[in-house]
Amino acid sequence: MSNNRYAVVLAAGQGTRMKSKLYKVLHPVCGKPMVEHVVDQLQQIGLSEIVTVVGHGAEVVKAQLQGKSEFVLQNEQLGTAHAVMQASDLLKNESGTTLVVCGDTPLLTKETLQSLLDHHGKQEAKVTVLTASAFDPTGYGRVVRTTSGDLQKIVEHKDATEQEREICEINTGTYCFDNEALFQALEQVSNDNVQGEYYLPDVIEILQQAGEKVTAFMTQNFDETMGVNDRYALSQAEAIMRARIAKKHMLQGVTIVDPENTYIDSNVFIGQDTIIYPGTVLKGNVEIGEECTIGPNSEISNCKIGNHTDIRHSVATDSEIGSDVAIGPFAHIRPSSSISDDVKIGNFVEVKKASFGKGSKASHLSYIGDSSVGQSVNIGCGTITVNYDGKNKYKTVIEDNAFIGCNSNLIAPVTIGTGAYVAAGSTITDDVPADALSIGRARQVNKEEYAKKIKE
Ligand code: UD1
Ligand code: MG
Repeated sequence: MSNNRYAVVLAAGQGTRMKSKLYKVLHPVCGKPMVEHVVDQLQQIGLSEIVTVVGHGAEVVKAQLQGKSEFVLQNEQLGTAHAVMQASDLLKNESGTTLVVCGDTPLLTKETLQSLLDHHGKQEAKVTVLTASAFDPTGYGRVVRTTSGDLQKIVEHKDATEQEREICEINTGTYCFDNEALFQALEQVSNDNVQGEYYLPDVIEILQQAGEKVTAFMTQNFDETMGVNDRYALSQAEAIMRARIAKKHMLQGVTIVDPENTYIDSNVFIGQDTIIYPGTVLKGNVEIGEECTIGPNSEISNCKIGNHTDIRHSVATDSEIGSDVAIGPFAHIRPSSSISDDVKIGNFVEVKKASFGKGSKASHLSYIGDSSVGQSVNIGCGTITVNYDGKNKYKTVIEDNAFIGCNSNLIAPVTIGTGAYVAAGSTITDDVPADALSIGRARQVNKEEYAKKIKE
């Protein structure tokens, strides 16, 4: 198991520049917290241990990463070097290689981390810093090299001279260290700088001056190394991640008609030959089968959907939807609903906490809530399950093959038996036995010539 490779993820900061109540590393990028993106990539490169440094929002961050990482607490945020030091009890005495990654670089991939490790190994360096060339390096630490081009030190933007600020090679905040050298050097880091913080990048100069080998590994892909410190960067990271996710699905056989206007979260699975039309938002844990048509303009959150199902201009949340189902346009499937195969939920139908058996239909303008609908049931236009008396919710049961006429009110709790008919316009307050016809409405009276009389 142990291959003597460790990772420390820095995730203790508040993220002042985000101007948010939510701790920075928990801000989602395509539905997944930034720090979880980082940890998920680290998990795929086979490390012996991942340690996440938590501080602000420690409990929430821990809950989010439970089972994926160990944790150490940084009580006061005194800087990135101080953050890494919190892991010393766990890692100080290990020999091997330690990756240090910031929790706010969500676009970093396992391939780049692996290349960094490989480079570090080949160079036999004490530290290798991952650098990139930034079009606009503002805010990043700059990579200062000696006249012969060797890595010398990193200077933070705020501490940099005018000349140093011209440098476009930036510190991505990702490093590979010889573990023992790291923890020894950390003890020498001071906070004598503009921000009064213990800077992790100072370890590089400390090791360089001690005559140790320090190197930089430049990735060609600046995008991947973007550090998200504010909402603008967050939107840029989101756009890049979104394009990446869309591409992955397209290469796996999903048609995405307009990827730039389609919003697919990280934990979404889509089967082959499904077509996603523009304006579609797939949020959280969504699983869609093969040969479905989704969108345009549909918002689907935490749903499992079968094969050959069409969902157009609709919203579906926390529900299960079977195969060969047609939903919409303009339908609303609210949480805890379960829609079986061959069901039709048509325009302006709202379904809440309701199950629909195979082959049932509610084609137009209905509210079906807290209900259990059997198989091959036909629910006429304008049917309402009257589930709420202002205090409590009650259940409606509609058994197999029942037929509910248009514009009926089913006042729950109520059961419509198998094969029963409810006449259009009925208000049903009592159970309807199987195979019965129930009419619950006033009789029609025609008063001959009466209309004429009124006009006179
Ligand atoms: C840091 C680097 C900078 C680099 C940039 C890349 C330092 C001093 N600077 O700057 O060279 O170009 O990342 O994105 O390292 N954190 C803690 N505890 C602390 C301070 C920070 O856990 O006491 C965590 C934060 O939660 C964050 C990460 O460390 O996830 C980086 O901190 P941040 O404040 O974003 O550093 P930058 O200013 O971006
Ligand atoms: Mg940052």
